[in-house]
Formats: sequence, structure tokens, C-alpha cells
Amino acid sequence: MTKLTLRDLEVRGKRVLARVDFNVPTEERDGKIAITDDTRIRESLPTINHLREHGAKIILMAHFGRPKGKPVMKYSLRPVADYLHTVIDHPVAFSHDTIGKIPEEIIAHMHEGDITLLENVRFHPGEEANDPKFSQALAKLGDLYVNDAFGAAHRAHASTAGITKFVKQSAMGFLMEKEIQYLSGELEKPAKPFVVILGGSKVSDKIGVIKALMEKADAILIGGAMANTFWKAQDVPVGSSRVEEDKLDLARELIDLAKKKDVRFLLPVDALETKKIEVGATFRNTSRVTPTHGITEGWQAVDIGRATISLYEDEIAKAKTILWNGPVGVFEIPAFAAGTIAIAEALARSKATTIIGGGDSVTAVKQAGLADNMTFISTGGGASLELLEGKELFGIAALSDRRT
Ligand code: 3PG
Repeated sequence: MTKLTLRDLEVRGKRVLARVDFNVPTEERDGKIAITDDTRIRESLPTINHLREHGAKIILMAHFGRPKGKPVMKYSLRPVADYLHTVIDHPVAFSHDTIGKIPEEIIAHMHEGDITLLENVRFHPGEEANDPKFSQALAKLGDLYVNDAFGAAHRAHASTAGITKFVKQSAMGFLMEKEIQYLSGELEKPAKPFVVILGGSKVSDKIGVIKALMEKADAILIGGAMANTFWKAQDVPVGSSRVEEDKLDLARELIDLAKKKDVRFLLPVDALETKKIEVGATFRNTSRVTPTHGITEGWQAVDIGRATISLYEDEIAKAKTILWNGPVGVFEIPAFAAGTIAIAEALARSKATTIIGGGDSVTAVKQAGLADNMTFISTGGGASLELLEGKELFGIAALSDRRT
């Protein structure tokens, strides 16, 4: 690892600006905002606790939603400050402004181990514009910078990247380090067989990931609506299933590339089909999909079928490393969730290193109650995909280099 980490910093008595990803799912309950999944908050605790234990004054910066550069009260981080207080057992001060007199005043009165959370950095237009003036104003609030916001590390924003130009030292936090270790380090030379399960709706979202993983994977198992595009590219009838018509050539290219690279590229061999994607809709398992017999006219594929489940379970059972990104069906509707749950269960049974690469597959694993059975679950969405593609993330690249 070439970047400084939290362990490299001498933080006692210092004001440490820590960028975290508190962009958590919420819902309104009795007129109040309630956090429905606190994983990102809990995953930032090792960094926050380390800073507390080592006598830092901790100034947390985060974004929430996409308020587009102006204050939008439903995107205030105030409820997160209250929640953080309950999980950390220490008061958490909240600054209603991100820069200027209000936070400066609060910070001036902080003691070692104290925590202040700044209001949503995206309330300021300088954040997403990566405006140096805003970066500098944020940097003025602290002495050192720590980036633990893996989920936002693919964004070149003021609080994730620009700020590093104006602080003495900037290092990655423990969550950032762990994400890089699993999504990059472990997959550098994965224990073989290395099986990748890719689902989700669009091939176009995953082109870079598929190409990058072709270099290392032994088998790639495809599910979700993107399987329809691969089917259609091979002239399998897809009925009224969702297809990316403009990606058919690309799908063919990827299938050819897999052949060249000697990667087994598996498409579903059957499916669950329905006339309408809605709760209570009639559905049925197709027979085996062939070039002449696929999804019925007027019906659409919504999940992998029974034969595919058992085919994929066999692949998973043989693997030593498994990476899963994207559900294999419309799992939000219980009747169409069997394939996704079966994949989660197969991973839970496996002795392999199991890495859940962010996004909806994480939700699926949690819904199935199997999160504790996985080796690693990423907190990132877009950031995980970019790291898996092998891209350099702005929030990591901007950190101080380690001098060896
Ligand atoms: C996420 O939820 O993926 C991150 O917090 C980044 O949020 P963004 O897509 O709004 O930049």
C-alpha cells in the first residue's frame, strides 16, 4: 500500500477532519427521519474510535443525498448526529454550517476525544464542483485529514479529494483500507477456482468490470435482466423481457472475449417468467432455454430458474474465491427472489472467500439474514464497481504518499 493510513498519523491533540460516508438509507416515521440500515455508520466506528482513543478532536464531514449545492432540510445530517451519539456513547456536536464562524466556534471549544459532525457538505455548491476555495475553507477547520468514505471515493469532490491539497497530511481510514484490501488486494491473485456472479439490470453498467474480471476469473455466472441482452445477442427468444438493444454487439464481443480468455461464461439455462412485474402476478418456470425456445411471447424473465439455480450452486460449491455483484432476479418482489436467495445461501454454505461487491446484492444478503456468513461485504456502490474495474479512485489517489 503506497498511501498513508490512519496508523501513520500522530493525532493526539490534533483537529482531525475525517470524511465518512453517512449516505444511509432512511425513511420517515411519525414525521421524523429514521435510519433503516446503519451499516455505513457502524463501519466507520473503528476509525472514529481509534481517533478518540488516541486523543484527536474529530471533525466528521459527510454528504447525504443529492441536494445539488443548496440546503435542503430533508437532506440534513442532524438525525445522523443524533444516531451517532447513541452508538458511540459520547456526545456528538452538530454544526449547522460546513465552513466559517459556526464550525470554527464549536471546534475551538473541543477537547481531545470530542466529536463534531458538520452539516451535509453537499449543501455547499463548492463540494461537488471541487472548488479550491471550499476545500481550503474546510481544511482550515483541521490539522490532519482522514478519508474513510469509501462509498464516495470515486467522486472528485472538495471533501473527498480537493481538501488534501490544503492539509499537511492525509491518510486513509480503516474502512477504506479494508475495502481496498478485499476488492483489490484479495482479487489480485485470487485463490482458484475464482467464480464471479454478476447480476443487475444493465450490461452497460458492468462492461468495465466484466472485462477486468475476465483476466482472472475461471467462471462468470450471469443473472438479472442483463442476461436477457446476452440471450438476445445469441438469438434466444426473450419475449417482452427488458433488453439493451444497443448493446447486443457488445454482448457478443464479451462472449467471444470469454472464449479467447478461456473463461467459462455461463448464462441462465432457464428462467422464471411472468406477464407483469408486480406483486401477485402469475409466474412459471420455463423449460430449458435454447436458440429456438426461450421466454414466451408476451412474458418476461424475472429470475433465474430452478435448473440455473442448481447449475450455479454447483459452480459456487467448487470455488475457492467468489465475488458477487448484482441480484439475479427482481428480488424486491418475494415471488421473484428465489434465485437471489439461493445464491446468497450457496455463498453462505461455501468455505471460499466470499466477497459481496456492493449495491443491491448487499441488500439481498442482508434481507436473507446471511451477512455474517460472508467474508466481506463492501459499503460502496459505484465506488466498488470502479475499484473492481481496476480504476484509480480520486479519493484514494489524492491521499499523501507513504515515503519508504
Ligand atoms: C453512494 O451512496 O453510493 C455514495 O454515498 C455516493 O453517493 P453519490 O452517488 O450521490 O455520489
